[in-house]
Amino acid sequence: MNIQESISLKPFTTFGIDQKAKYFTRVGSLYELKAALLAAKEQQLPVFILGGGSNILLTRDIDALVIKLEIKGINLVKEEGDQLWVEVGAGEMWHELVLHSIAQDWAGLENLSLIPGTVGASPMQNIGAYGVEIKDVFDSLQAMHRETLEMHSFDAEACQFGYRESVFKQTLKDQYVITSVTFRLSKTPKFHLEYGAIREVLAANGIEQPSIRAISDAVIQIRQSKLPDPKEIGNAGSFFKNPTIANAQFDALKAEYPSIPGYPSAEGVKVAAGWLIEHAGWKGKRIGDVGVHAKQALVLVNYGAGSGEELKSLSEQIQASVFEKFGINLQPEVNFI
Ligand code: EPU
Repeated sequence: MNIQESISLKPFTTFGIDQKAKYFTRVGSLYELKAALLAAKEQQLPVFILGGGSNILLTRDIDALVIKLEIKGINLVKEEGDQLWVEVGAGEMWHELVLHSIAQDWAGLENLSLIPGTVGASPMQNIGAYGVEIKDVFDSLQAMHRETLEMHSFDAEACQFGYRESVFKQTLKDQYVITSVTFRLSKTPKFHLEYGAIREVLAANGIEQPSIRAISDAVIQIRQSKLPDPKEIGNAGSFFKNPTIANAQFDALKAEYPSIPGYPSAEGVKVAAGWLIEHAGWKGKRIGDVGVHAKQALVLVNYGAGSGEELKSLSEQIQASVFEKFGINLQPEVNFI
């Protein structure tokens, strides 16, 4: 095992923040993961697991052994009727999996195209886009307990999926390392076209009969039109969750701001945080090297030399002003470290 010291994490998170790991190692197998966890135990070092780094904001150096998960593999493990079970190593890049699935004609992941990050991180926050969430295609996951080093399997119920939530962000936080995820895909596509601009883009592309590839292309086109590419501008996708508010509060806001977008949900009305931030005057604002993306106000960006502290401070200013104007508390989707 190769353990490096004092390594900059700038290339390993999509925000591109220059904070350091005290120790850093990469693991490509369960065996290597076990060895790294054991080494940390022996040296009494805390452990920090890094996937694609697409949903974290580093505000400090990490005084721990940072383990970058690089366990690979995409394997069709079972077929029954038109159902397919595909087990994927936690270190595979999410979008590579989507592209692989489309090439094999495995349906289910097409609406989740171009989401940054790794497969292992995808169930942590039940990633979602354009009407589909991981939980809709999830079968189970395999994870190593950080203390006992035993492997455990979790089905969807055990994961307690919610909107950008799972048990791994709540009661089991920092207890397991997800090593692989098994998805239930299908040979027969079920198209989800009702969200966002998918239908419009398909029509504009002259597509009359949708296919999983055409949907993936449309989603990629929509995402590229409003979300910054982390390779060019540091960001972690949506910085806040879309908040759910009571019907009465929504009705009062709608009377004052007729254009406010809201989607009815079981608990009330889900409001578009991007709209709130834009209408609190933040869209396109830049402070030093951090700012609010000009095409999607829910995305905070690092233009290059921004720090985690600066982004945190910007996010707090946005929260305060959205609360002052609309009486709504925005909760971050991104994990602060
Ligand atoms: N809006 C504005 N101004 C903005 C941004 C958005 O008015 O600056 C309005 C839009 O006009 C639209 C509504 O807000 O009416 C929703 O916008 P959009 O379709 O861009 O989606 P979102 O709610 O901002 C969510 C997810 C995204 C996901 C998209 C598509 C969350 C926190 N974000 O964004 O996920 O890609 O829907 O399904 O739920 C992510 O989690 O990192 C992420 C990118």
